Amino acid sequence: MDSISLIGFMGSGKSSVGKELARLLPDHMFIDLDDYIEDMLGKTIPEIFEQGGEEAFRALEKDALESIFIKGEMSGKPCILSLGGGTVTTEACRRIVRRNTICFYLRASIDTLVYNLETWPGDRPMLQSEKDLRSRVEELMASRSEVYETTAHSIIDVDGNDYPAVALEIARSLDKHTDNGLKDI
Ligand code: S3P
Repeated sequence: MDSISLIGFMGSGKSSVGKELARLLPDHMFIDLDDYIEDMLGKTIPEIFEQGGEEAFRALEKDALESIFIKGEMSGKPCILSLGGGTVTTEACRRIVRRNTICFYLRASIDTLVYNLETWPGDRPMLQSEKDLRSRVEELMASRSEVYETTAHSIIDVDGNDYPAVALEIARSLDKHTDNGLKDI
C-alpha cells in the first residue's frame, strides 16, 4: 500500500480532506505535516516563523519529511499526509513527496480560497501582508500553481465539492495508481 499526500494552497481543505480520507482508508495513518512539525519542536508555526523566518520553516518541513519517509519513523506504515501550502515549493521536499507518495493537488479557485480563508482564518504567517487577502492569495498562487500542478500525480478540482466528496473521489481514483486495498467504496 502506498502513502498518499495532499498538496494545495492554504484553505484548499488539505487537512479536512485528509481526515476524511483516513476514515475511508483505515490502514493508513493520518499525518498533518504542520502538526507533526509543531510536535517535533514544541512550538507553533507562527512562533517558528517569528524566530527563524520562512527559510527555517522550509528546512523543518524537509527534516520532517525525511523523518517520516527516509528514517522510517512510521515503520513503513502507509500514511495520508496533508502537507503545508508551501511544502512543495522546496525542491528537496518535492522530490521526497514524488518518490514516496501518490500526490494529489487539491486545486481551488481564488474565490474559493479567499472564501475559505475568510471563513476559517487561522494564524498563517504567509498571509500576513500589507496587501488585502485576495491580492496576497493571487500573488502567491501566481508563483505556486505551476509547482502544484507539476508535482502532483493527479489533480482534483475541489470547487463546489464538500470534503467527504473530495476524499471519496481520491479514494476511488487510487486503483488507477496502485492497489490500495480499497473495499466497497
Ligand atoms: C504555509 C501554509 C501553512 C503552513 C505555513 C506556511 C504556506 O499550512 O505550513 O503557515 O507557505 O502556504 P496550510 O496550507 O495547512 O495552511
